Amino acid sequence: SWTPDHFVDSAVLALQHTIGPTDQVILGLSGGVDSSVAALLLHRAIGPRLHGIFVDNGLLRQDEFATVLKAYEGLGLNVTGVNAAPEFYAALAGLSDPEAKRKAIGRTFIEVFDREAQKVTGAAWLAQGTIYPDVIESVSVKGPAVTIKSHHNVGGLPEKMHLKVVEPLRMLFKDEVREVGAALGLPGEILNRHPFPGPGLGIRILGDITPEKVDLLQRADGVFINLLKEHGLYSQVWQAGAMLLPVQSVGVMGDERTYERVVALRAVTSIDGMTADWAHLPYEFLAEVSNKIINQVRGINRVVYDISSKPPATIEWE
Ligand code: XMP
Repeated sequence: SWTPDHFVDSAVLALQHTIGPTDQVILGLSGGVDSSVAALLLHRAIGPRLHGIFVDNGLLRQDEFATVLKAYEGLGLNVTGVNAAPEFYAALAGLSDPEAKRKAIGRTFIEVFDREAQKVTGAAWLAQGTIYPDVIESVSVKGPAVTIKSHHNVGGLPEKMHLKVVEPLRMLFKDEVREVGAALGLPGEILNRHPFPGPGLGIRILGDITPEKVDLLQRADGVFINLLKEHGLYSQVWQAGAMLLPVQSVGVMGDERTYERVVALRAVTSIDGMTADWAHLPYEFLAEVSNKIINQVRGINRVVYDISSKPPATIEWE
């Protein structure tokens, strides 16, 4: 019968058999469960010949890059953090269309990743955290031209870099990946993380992206996520986050009139992300989040809660 320990043992043997004794392997780390579990598995099989590359695209959550990089280092992984935020912001400048933004982010990711990967001598393999649902679900959710995980799977990259592909998780479902991660000692902080889209906050800032808007959204989103955790609600929702709307509205602060931005909070329950219900979070909790965001994040004077289910709405706003 399938157990995570048996899977780890046989996967390690298979990886050691497949990957030549001096071959170096490159893996893009995202902070997500799948790439992190793939990294730990490969690390167990080939140690420092696994080279993880973790790109800061400037569209991650507040403190995410530093926290996750530290967690990876704590696990003994050989990982390079690349601060590429300015490059992503430059590629995104002036773009408002969601698909144009996705493409710019995907293209920039490949450029940055490729450049970093070239620095690894003897690189023969590109490892990917592809899991079984990714294998069968190559169709789009948003439109015919978009693959949901196009960014994670760095399409076109292996051919370009002349690397062979190794995908040690491609037969596993998400719950199995989590069990394997737990067996490999992945900390709960990464193991139980909500899904987060590859284009990150880039598709949660409606309209064009600037570093100032990213900062505003990171702070509002940070308040929301931290309070979800404090109230024990984080693990009860499938995904949660804040969206920065391209709208300003009138408010008052003291005797001053304000004209500032609106943030929409989104939290959903779901099994697989294909359908979702808006999470019925307690009113008192929502009130606390709203007050804290408006009091602490200068530039936001209104918070709304998204009560749309999927379908017909999607989880992300773009
Ligand atoms: P939607 O918004 O289509 O999202 O209901 C379903 C799930 O997919 C995630 N998502 C993405 N993930 N690149 C990704 O890697 C993307 O372009 C993308 N768009 C949506 C979304 O966060 C949710 O978990």
